[in-house]
Parts: sequence; C-alpha cells; structure tokens
Amino acid sequence: MSAATTPLLAIRGLRAAYGKIEALKGIDLDIQAGEIVALIGANGAGKSTLMMTIFGRPRARAGEILFDGQNISSMPTHEVARLRIAQSPEGRRIFPRMTVRENLQMGADATPGSKAERAVSLERVLNLFPRLQERMEQRGGTLSGGEQQMLAIGRALMSRPRLLLLDEPSLGLAPLITRQIFSAIRTLNCEDRLTVLIVEQNANHALRLAHRGYVMVNGLITMSGDGMELLQRPEIRAAYLEGGRHA
Ligand SMILES: Nc1ncnc2c1ncn2[C@@H]1O[C@H](COP(=O)(O)OP(=O)(O)O)[C@@H](O)[C@H]1O
Ligand SMILES: [Mg+2]
Repeated sequence: MSAATTPLLAIRGLRAAYGKIEALKGIDLDIQAGEIVALIGANGAGKSTLMMTIFGRPRARAGEILFDGQNISSMPTHEVARLRIAQSPEGRRIFPRMTVRENLQMGADATPGSKAERAVSLERVLNLFPRLQERMEQRGGTLSGGEQQMLAIGRALMSRPRLLLLDEPSLGLAPLITRQIFSAIRTLNCEDRLTVLIVEQNANHALRLAHRGYVMVNGLITMSGDGMELLQRPEIRAAYLEGGRHA
C-alpha cells in the first residue's frame, strides 16, 4: 500500500499507565483501510492495553490516536463506538444471561442503524457463523468457548464496524474452531473489505492471516513488517514459535 494514503487508524507516541505501571511507553502503529494487522507479543507486553486505550480505558497519557484523521484519544468510550470501531475483548465478555439474539441486539444498539441495516448485519453474522443460528434463543453463558468467541465477534459486527479489534480470539480454543474463526476474519476482510487489528499470542496463525504485523515487548513496538516476512525471521521464530506452545 502507498505510504501516501491516510491510515484508517494512526497511533503516534501513545503512552498509557495503570498508576505507576507504564503499560504503553510510546507506541507508533498504522492500519490502512482494508488491512488485517496483527499485534503479537508475550503475556504482559501491553497488547490488551493498546486495544483498550483506543476505547479510552485506560486514557492515553501522551500521544495521539487518529481515526480517519480525527484525534480520538480523549473521546469517551461510547463515542468511540459510535464512530464504528468495534471490539471483541479478551475473554469475550458476552452477556451470559442474555440469549444469543439479545447479545447480537446489544451490538447493533452501539451505533445508529435502520431496521433494514440490522437485518443485513444479522444475516451476515449468521451466514459466517451458522452455529449461532441454531442457538439464537439459548443463553450466552451456555455456549462453548468457541461459540462464545463467535458471538463476541458477531456482536461486534452488528455495529457495522469500519474497524474491528480482536483481542486473542483463539485463546483456549481447539485448533479446528480457531481455524473457523480465522477463516471468518479472512472472509470479512476479503469480501466486505473490513479493516482488522488482531491481537494474538498465537503468532503463527496471526501472522499468516495478517497483511502486516507488529511485535510488542514490554510496552514498546520492537519489530514490524509483512506478516509472512515476520514469520520467517529467526528472532520471531525463536521467541514466539519454535519450542513454544505456539509452534
Ligand atoms: N487493570 C490493570 N491494573 C494494573 N496493571 C495492569 C492492569 N491491566 C494490565 N496491567 C499491567 O499492564 C501490563 C500490560 O498488560 P496487558 O496490556 O494486559 O498485556 P497483554 O495483553 O500483552 O498480555 C502488564 O504489566 C500488566 O500487569
Ligand atoms: Mg491481553
């Protein structure tokens, strides 16, 4: 992609902290419209904090988060959602006592949309995740881990996002379910041109899926590049693939 295009998301010198713990120490990251970008790194690197800071919790202490050129770094969470940035948070956080249908409705309620638009989104979600169709009246808490992840992504999609943020969608899931979820993300990107930031400890899957990747270590970006090219770098293989649980 041309360096001249304005990124859909541009993060510049971003810092965030929990009290005295500096979780983000000056992050620069770009996502072009239509890209899948993977953010990989060990537990505690600051990946979830980066995603949450985009939503204003925790607040940025310094730096900028530009969405489509607009600085959103001091915007309240609900306003960020109205810009049609959606997330599937770490640990899914679906509403366990609500049905699948109600969970999906909650997603649609995050942004304005006509009845017809909601119907189109619902059809898309159920077409991507047919398992949800079979479980529409079942409570979210009774779904399997993989189904809950599908529901969390489906709920995010119901807000018709321009940018989808996924925090460790493969965590704790069987390989077959992980493949189904990654395949749905690829379909959304290829067919709907959805822009995606995916945070993963599973570097192998994430870098194969992504156009580009960033590596985060201890609150800083230490490497970035094409997904497949990063995957082949010896230092990435040593740290995140070979011998580890992600190999
Ligand atoms: N709510 C919190 N309060 C205090 N420290 C936190 C909180 N959440 C995360 N941290 C700390 O911030 C750092 C980054 O955490 P996190 O963003 O969750 O990393 P990752 O998602 O890469 O595993 C870690 O040192 C973690 O202990
Ligand atoms: Mg995390």
